[in-house]
Amino acid sequence: MNTETSHLTANAAALLGEAGKQRVRAIRSRRWLVYPRAKQVLDRLNFLVDHPRGTRMPSIAIYGDSGMGKTMIMKRFRDQHPPSFDALTGRLKTPVLAMEMTSRPGERRFYAELLTLLGAPQRPRADIAQMEQAALRIMEAIGVQVLVIDEVHNILAGTYREQRIVLNTLRFLSNRLQISLVGVNDAREAIGGDVQLARRFEQFTLSRWAANEQFEILVALMLRNTPLRHPSVLTAKSLRRILQITEGITANIFHMINSVAIEAIESGSERITDEAIEKWEPEFDAEAAFA
Ligand SMILES: Nc1ncnc2c1ncn2[C@@H]1O[C@H](COP(=O)(O)OP(=O)(O)O)[C@@H](O)[C@H]1O
Ligand SMILES: [Mg+2]
Repeated sequence: MNTETSHLTANAAALLGEAGKQRVRAIRSRRWLVYPRAKQVLDRLNFLVDHPRGTRMPSIAIYGDSGMGKTMIMKRFRDQHPPSFDALTGRLKTPVLAMEMTSRPGERRFYAELLTLLGAPQRPRADIAQMEQAALRIMEAIGVQVLVIDEVHNILAGTYREQRIVLNTLRFLSNRLQISLVGVNDAREAIGGDVQLARRFEQFTLSRWAANEQFEILVALMLRNTPLRHPSVLTAKSLRRILQITEGITANIFHMINSVAIEAIESGSERITDEAIEKWEPEFDAEAAFA
């Protein structure tokens, strides 16, 4: 057996001892991979956690098309700051609270979602002022520093008035609790409706992958993390083909590389070749990524 493993990360190399089936499973359950842009965004997010409280807390908006990896980054951020026990106060501290904007949110639905997340669901008839008070009280008690909201573009499903109300609510929470907000978003307009709020957001865009060094780094990282026995060397033509088929969407790129890698295990070739890339047919609908 070939025991040369310098083409792999230690984790991937450790898997080479496993049978094909286990390696296929490892590829299918592939987890977080830190490419440079994701690291950059994460570093900025981490900076929010250490920021001293003040009247105008810095906030971050992350934009990108569906499938670009926004939710993965925000979950990673949340997991890096899990709730911890504060021996000084005897309380659980939750520095990063992550929620999802409900579809067509209003003030009530927003608070209901937040309170459920905080483990304090309210009676259905509770009035908004009570819900607001409860949310403020709990968030203050558990020391929230950053409120992360995924799918912020759902705000846009509401009427103009509803949009204003939800944006006001976000601004109010940020001001009252002196917390940073992180908005994760498919649409740039979502927070634009509140100029004051939009102004304090630093914007990060996860652009679709293009034929450049960043993309080469991503593919190289993926290959180094893929437990195949032989090194895969892809030509510029294959890289272009990957971009073309996947339309530069992160989710599609992972899917394509994973699926070609699994083929390579099943066929016994144990490397990703230009021919395999050339003849690979997507079963995902490229158009669906835009929906
Ligand atoms: N850093 C990453 N490491 C591994 N897989 C990733 C990464 N980023 C994205 N993916 C893949 O892409 C899919 C879509 O990512 P997701 O974060 O849900 O996109 P978005 O929230 O931008 O729509 C994930 O389920 C995963 O398969
Ligand atoms: Mg998402």
